[in-house]
Amino acid sequence: MKFSLAPLSLLATAVAFTPAALAQNDATTTFLNPILPGWHSDPSCTRVDDTFFCATSTFISFPGLPVYASKDLVNWKLISHAWTRESQLPGVSWNTTGQQDGMYAPTLRYHDGEFWLICEYLNVGPGIIGVLFRTTDPFDDDAWSDPLLFSPQAIDPDLFWDDDGKVYAATQGIILQELDLETGELSQPPIEIWTGTGGVWPEGPHIYKRDGYYYLLIAEGGTATDHAITIARSENIDGPYEAYEDNPILTNRDTDEYFQTVGHGDLFTDPDGNWWGLCLATRSGPEYKHYPMGREAVLFNVTWDEGEWPVLEPVRGRMEGWPLPPQDRDIPGDGPFNSDPDEYDFTADSGLPKHFVHWRVPAEGIFSTSDSGLEIVPSRNNLTGVLGSNGDDIALTGQRGLSFVGRRQTHTLFDFSVDLSFSPREVGQEAGVTVFLTQVNHIDLGLVLLESGNGSTALHLRMRAEGTGSPPPEETVALPQGWEGKPVRLHITAEDPQTYVLFASSDDGGDIVEVGTASSELVSGGNGSFVGSLLGAYATCNGGGSGTECPEGGVASFQRWRYTPVAQYVSEDESVPA
Ligand SMILES: *[C@@H]1O[C@H](CO)[C@@H](O)[C@H](O)[C@H]1NC(C)=O
Ligand SMILES: *[C@@H]1O[C@H](CO)[C@@H](O)[C@H](O)[C@H]1NC(C)=O
Ligand SMILES: *[C@@H]1O[C@H](CO)[C@@H](O)[C@H](O)[C@H]1NC(C)=O
Ligand SMILES: *[C@@H]1O[C@H](CO)[C@@H](O)[C@H](O)[C@H]1NC(C)=O
Ligand SMILES: *[C@@H]1O[C@H](CO)[C@@H](O)[C@H](O)[C@H]1NC(C)=O
Repeated sequence: MKFSLAPLSLLATAVAFTPAALAQNDATTTFLNPILPGWHSDPSCTRVDDTFFCATSTFISFPGLPVYASKDLVNWKLISHAWTRESQLPGVSWNTTGQQDGMYAPTLRYHDGEFWLICEYLNVGPGIIGVLFRTTDPFDDDAWSDPLLFSPQAIDPDLFWDDDGKVYAATQGIILQELDLETGELSQPPIEIWTGTGGVWPEGPHIYKRDGYYYLLIAEGGTATDHAITIARSENIDGPYEAYEDNPILTNRDTDEYFQTVGHGDLFTDPDGNWWGLCLATRSGPEYKHYPMGREAVLFNVTWDEGEWPVLEPVRGRMEGWPLPPQDRDIPGDGPFNSDPDEYDFTADSGLPKHFVHWRVPAEGIFSTSDSGLEIVPSRNNLTGVLGSNGDDIALTGQRGLSFVGRRQTHTLFDFSVDLSFSPREVGQEAGVTVFLTQVNHIDLGLVLLESGNGSTALHLRMRAEGTGSPPPEETVALPQGWEGKPVRLHITAEDPQTYVLFASSDDGGDIVEVGTASSELVSGGNGSFVGSLLGAYATCNGGGSGTECPEGGVASFQRWRYTPVAQYVSEDESVPA
């Protein structure tokens, strides 16, 4: 359904319309960035008829490589992940040690009735594992193929079909190789076609053929505040490439813009033939200190006249571009729209929502839903685990998956809360909620059984935080009298862009215990500069038990899962109600 005019009854409230709502009216030319808020790095997009499709990087999180679809460029629905089955890459996830290894920048393309998603899995085994997934139905997880494997030398593969039927994968460097789509063989030797304009790490290439030229769009300057998009062109695919004299064509380096790190983009047209692009950016300001959502995806319009170089509109929070396609949320599939709230009451058949993700492939049987909630079997490793223990006790490193599930923080200000039913029997058994960036950057509010001083044990609320900057001290508060034996509601809210408040409320909501506050700097950059924060639930016995088993009795049940968007910041000092 679309409306070109607000019904009369709504006119009285029209003044309260947020710009976000305005952006959804027909034929509007304004929109707000980020268009895919929350952790969505390295977007690659393509259009098929009236639908736009984008995929993003996911590193070690699982399921990986989400694909979003939109008909209006503003509402993006999660329609599938290309990597949802351990059997697609047997053993690989559990052999991954680094917090930012795994699935790097994908390229999503449509060719001859099929969607192709090319990517590379980093830092397992001897080198890079090239993966090429394909499907005729991107709305179905199960329809994505097992990957065709290939052995690239560099990261960030592009996928480009030339008119003569040859297929090319350009990668970081920038080097070009032909890719055999049946065997995965890459042509040798790789040809260096361009090294960029002098910035570090020329990477993230995409090739477009237009008006007799091969255009080579790349990212350079590194993925932090020097990040930029530059371009070169050639009449032959293997060069020589001529750099554009007005490079970079998109960057916010050396500015005091709220949106920084602008770069690593992809270009496409809408059904009217207008050009657009998506790239990544962080809402950090030049201070580059608080950006818990990490690298988000932003939209910009492009002018690309025949025979000319493309001109890209600078990335800001409030944008004016070409007329947007009319608002349309009629997209198949059971995934949520990226900016929607969560309101989940789990049942035996509900399963996990599509946008819930884990840190590595989870161990079998850890997550299940019943009418009483989302049940999580604890892992021996807590959210940190014992890192760098050279695998002496692999069950403590997190390499058998964390007993954690979360969804992206997609709004600057939000409320996240969930009921926890938990009856631990042994000291150290714990379950709770967390803002999680990596195993060394997270802020947790747990319910934990602790010794209470005179030989007895008691349930406590505990906040623990670690990460970039100065973590606050641990806070523990005994669970108030009368709260035992009932669900405890755990809350994390971002009341301002720099502070999380962690508190608990009693079953009836009457009593509130504030446990602590923590800075969002803890979950910004540092060991997680490529990833972005997740909000979720976990269970652990903090190293208790033996082998892969925790002591009996620590299974946690979560119910009434709510994520409520409150506001989105579009500049350092302007927020828009969600
Ligand atoms: C995972 O690591 C083990 C132990 O080093 C090795 O035997 C196995 O081949 C690895 N599997 C993969 C897929 O890398
Ligand atoms: C983007 O769209 C605006 C509004 O229509 C237009 O003024 C501007 O020139 C466009 N910018 C580019 C780079 O195409
Ligand atoms: C000591 O243990 C009893 C229960 O055995 C408990 O009621 C009391 O609060 C505990 N005292 C302290 C200081 O923890
Ligand atoms: C976190 O970063 C520090 C500094 O670069 C590094 O020494 C440490 O190994 C990293 N930790 C993890 C778990 O990656
Ligand atoms: C997390 O687990 C490790 C052992 O696996 C333990 O040393 C550490 O104390 C745990 N943290 C907490 C808060 O219990």
